[in-house]
Amino acid sequence: MEEIKIIPMTGKHIKEIAELEKVCFSQPWSENSLLEELDNHTAQFLTAVDEDGKVAGYIGSFVVCESCYISNIAVFPQYRRKGIGRALISALFSLAKEKGAESVSLEVRPSNDTAISLYNVMGFEEVGLRKNFYRNPTEDALIMTYSFDK
Ligand SMILES: CC(C)(COP(=O)(O)OP(=O)(O)OC[C@H]1O[C@@H](n2cnc3c(N)ncnc32)[C@H](O)[C@@H]1OP(=O)(O)O)[C@@H](O)C(=O)NCCC(=O)NCCS
Repeated sequence: MEEIKIIPMTGKHIKEIAELEKVCFSQPWSENSLLEELDNHTAQFLTAVDEDGKVAGYIGSFVVCESCYISNIAVFPQYRRKGIGRALISALFSLAKEKGAESVSLEVRPSNDTAISLYNVMGFEEVGLRKNFYRNPTEDALIMTYSFDK
């Protein structure tokens, strides 16, 4: 994973991240929703950039009280399977700990084997199910959690 840096998301990353959202998700976050998070003090959004400053991937999260919630993680197809997803989650773990989080949680489609493999590798555990959470197509969500104290 040489030449990839994980840095805080800034305004100059927003266009590329909105593109990445469209590539990856049926209900992508818009440029405006991403922009709003720049002023949200509970939000931690990190960007993986290559040596030319191009966005390779990103992760979005919120820390409220002792809980960190990952709302988004995505890597452009041409950058996948190079450890960037892993690096984004590791960087977020450090940041979330600094902000006082004791655990990190997320939702994932049970059909998303790739993401579930990544979360398992990072030590997340399945803790529950939210019925009919996703749209386009409708699907339950697996809830996965990682605790810092384990
Ligand atoms: C999920 C995603 C972020 C993973 O990003 P990535 O940079 O390719 O992940 P990494 O290279 O860090 O992979 C880390 C580990 O996860 C697992 N993994 C990742 N991709 C995998 C795949 N296609 N098949 C099986 N395991 C996989 C492997 O254990 C891998 O370690 P290894 O390469 O040493 O075997 C990326 O596939 C993606 O953007 N998917 C579309 C968006 C998405 O579904 N986001 C999650 C929404 S909940």
